[in-house]
Amino acid sequence: MLREKLERLRSELSSRISAIKELEELEKIRVQFLGKKGVITMLMRSMNELPAAEKPLLGKLLNEVKQSAASEIEEKKIELQEQLRQRQQEAERIDVTLPGKVFNPGRRHPITLVMEEIEEIFGCMGFQIGEGPDVELDYYNFEALNMPEEHPARDMQDSFYIDKEILLRTHTSPVQIRTMEKMAPELPVRIIAPGKVYRRDDDITHSPMFHQVEGLVVDRGISLADLKGTLLLFAREMFGRERQIRLRPSFFPFTEPSAEVDISCIICNGQGCRTCGESGWLEILGAGMVHPRVLEVCGYDPELVSGFAFGMGVERIAMLKYGIDDIRLFYTNDLRMLRQ
Ligand code: FA5
Repeated sequence: MLREKLERLRSELSSRISAIKELEELEKIRVQFLGKKGVITMLMRSMNELPAAEKPLLGKLLNEVKQSAASEIEEKKIELQEQLRQRQQEAERIDVTLPGKVFNPGRRHPITLVMEEIEEIFGCMGFQIGEGPDVELDYYNFEALNMPEEHPARDMQDSFYIDKEILLRTHTSPVQIRTMEKMAPELPVRIIAPGKVYRRDDDITHSPMFHQVEGLVVDRGISLADLKGTLLLFAREMFGRERQIRLRPSFFPFTEPSAEVDISCIICNGQGCRTCGESGWLEILGAGMVHPRVLEVCGYDPELVSGFAFGMGVERIAMLKYGIDDIRLFYTNDLRMLRQ
């Protein structure tokens, strides 16, 4: 009877072990049969109660059952561990044939690139960077630049006012005043001031927000020749060695004399074409000698020092450089245009 029971136990255990799929399950079976209070362990203990005649045979059989169970469990354990290792390896495998992730790196905006190039060129000539706020006082934007209230020149720069005294700056020229106020009577003043400016303007060559780079040099004995030499060097660095420049008389209330500065057309090299309206010249900036009254307001003696200033439109320069014919393309965020 017991003998049959043991045989059944052996085969049942064997088929249960072979059906196991997880290590935890296997451990449960081991505890259930071979653990301290496991079925086989308990049977071994009860051997003593058997009649002496049956002991050796049944004891031997029980031992065999125990040993085969232990070795089957051990074999199964190794098998399951190997399967687990393979599954983990499979999950971690790197498939080198999969297409790579496409990174979409950003790039600098054409206006930023042109600003950086301008800064680089003037930086090499010893200019430092000056700064002023975008939200500016009427005093710095107009008044101190010789444009008192009701001055007709204010009409040229239709402005966004915040209140009567505060507006979005219409040009970078207020940085001239702020810089000289801070530095006077120290010499030399030699700065450029790149930044955003705002006007009520909107068409294919005018934008309500655009960028300018102001230039200002004040020292003893500065003349129009210094202005011309500086701008010629700039034009050649920016648009090519063969560029010429020309100064046309103009008017700005804060410079005297004043000029519009043209470069020889970069498309036809001065021969005349559609881009330059057959004139051979392209206008790039306004400039002049700092007005004596402006020097005085800022704390410099116009009898002792003189200076020149200029202001260029960055979009204008970028449009010429990259052959862009609509200023709005800079600000509509069309990546096809910006990627070029
Ligand atoms: C001025 O703004 C003067 N502050 C320049 C100056 C500085 C003269 C120092 C003398 C001494 P103007 O208004 O011409 O000047 O503007 C300068 C440049 O800004 C123009 O040549 C043009 O390239 C650019 N510009 C003007 N309005 C716009 C606009 N709405 N959109 C894009 N660019 C503009």
